[in-house]
Amino acid sequence: MTTQKTAKLTLADGREHTLPVTVGSENEHALDIRALRNDTGYITLDTGYMNTGATTSAITYLDGEQGILRYRGYPIEELAEKSTFVETSYLLIHGRLPTQAELSEFSRKLTYHSMIHEGMRHFFEGFPDRSHPMAVLSAMVTSLSAYYPDCLDRDAPMDLHVTRIMSKVRTIAAFSYKKTIGQPIMYPRNALSYCANFLHMMFAVPAEPYEPDPVVVKAVNQLLILHADHEQNCSTSTVRLVGSSGANVYAAVAAGILALWGPLHGGANQAVIEMLEMIANPNGPYKGDHKKFINEVKDKKSNTRLMGFGHRVYKNYDPRAKILKAMADEVLDHLGVKDPMLDMAKAMEEVALKDDYFVSKKLYPNVDFYSGILYRAIGIPTEMFTVMFALGRIPGWLAHWKEMVEDPSQKIGRPRQIYTGPTVRHYVPIDQRTGG
Ligand SMILES: CC(C)(COP(=O)(O)OP(=O)(O)OC[C@H]1O[C@@H](n2cnc3c(N)ncnc32)[C@H](O)[C@@H]1OP(=O)(O)O)[C@@H](O)C(=O)NCCC(=O)NCCS
Repeated sequence: MTTQKTAKLTLADGREHTLPVTVGSENEHALDIRALRNDTGYITLDTGYMNTGATTSAITYLDGEQGILRYRGYPIEELAEKSTFVETSYLLIHGRLPTQAELSEFSRKLTYHSMIHEGMRHFFEGFPDRSHPMAVLSAMVTSLSAYYPDCLDRDAPMDLHVTRIMSKVRTIAAFSYKKTIGQPIMYPRNALSYCANFLHMMFAVPAEPYEPDPVVVKAVNQLLILHADHEQNCSTSTVRLVGSSGANVYAAVAAGILALWGPLHGGANQAVIEMLEMIANPNGPYKGDHKKFINEVKDKKSNTRLMGFGHRVYKNYDPRAKILKAMADEVLDHLGVKDPMLDMAKAMEEVALKDDYFVSKKLYPNVDFYSGILYRAIGIPTEMFTVMFALGRIPGWLAHWKEMVEDPSQKIGRPRQIYTGPTVRHYVPIDQRTGG
């Protein structure tokens, strides 16, 4: 990172202000406005942070115009093909690929910390049967801070809490699913790898043996790798913002889970499947006519969006969607699953990518367009899709939290605003108010 260049800003009253320019390792340029208000009285206004860099970061590089995504410099395509989720998590959190000894030790710790306190296990019984698993997951992650109170200390053992979260979130996610279907909780099996263990806790029952399918284990590894980080997205920014107040890491991650829940963010994978099912429903408004639905999307008055399309940063094909589309074909083929939703998704993509509405707005499939179809094929129910996204995003959130707390220049996140309410007015006793 360099800050030798400067830029000149001419204000409305003719004053000139010099701004330092920060240049990143991929030649991205930023105007450093930190002194702007002190020097000029001006702030910058950027609703939705469309063009605001909230931090410098060495974790993930994303070029939305070119469709490039790299974790710590490694292209997402290489990691998805060659790495495992545990290895990629190490890379994100520690900044480099582990040696064999480091990877074995990290895996051992993840296995060792997979159990949750028996007291917490009883919490699951308190949730109503139809609880959304994201509500359960976020509540349980917050509760972990009550079981590991040393996380409240400023000098808490960071690596230990990071490992605990990564390992226990997987157990909590699977337990919350078992709760919703009324099956007994399956405890983790230490002999299994991270993703195989997750599948075991999700799909095994005490009555019979269960061996995870290696193709499905690989698919889960790839799905989680593809979701593992995406620089300053809504949930990661939330983790950083909450963590910037000094709140403990469980609180920060729980806040990230809640931010992810929304349909414009991690909830989109669930929304995509619901959209496809609604279009396919012979008794619904579209009766399988996806072109009719696309026409409705294009009608501004309808307020309908093509879920799984468009992205704040990608103005090109999301590289993760490209990998997932190919994976969907492979995995469904291996499992012998014929899912008409996959055919419909592909048909809709084809129509959209030729349509001027989507082309002119640079709307392409994003990570959520095909991921739901894969989750369905491996038996994960729709309500668990966002939990799967959260499971994948955990190492990214932890890496950002760690990067932030280790940065001595870190400050509490506190944006400013331009006030648009009434100017000063004086209190009127209630018997003298006229309303309005
Ligand atoms: C992801 C998303 C929230 C990004 O939003 P954003 O950067 O704020 O972009 P905007 O909502 O301002 O959209 C820009 C334009 O494209 C249109 N647009 C964006 N996504 C669209 C979609 N999925 N379907 C139809 N139109 C869409 C908007 O209506 C807007 O049109 P306008 O300029 O005529 O008003 C948005 O694309 C979206 O809602 N997508 C569907 C949800 C989704 O898949 N989310 C997962 C993201 S990984």
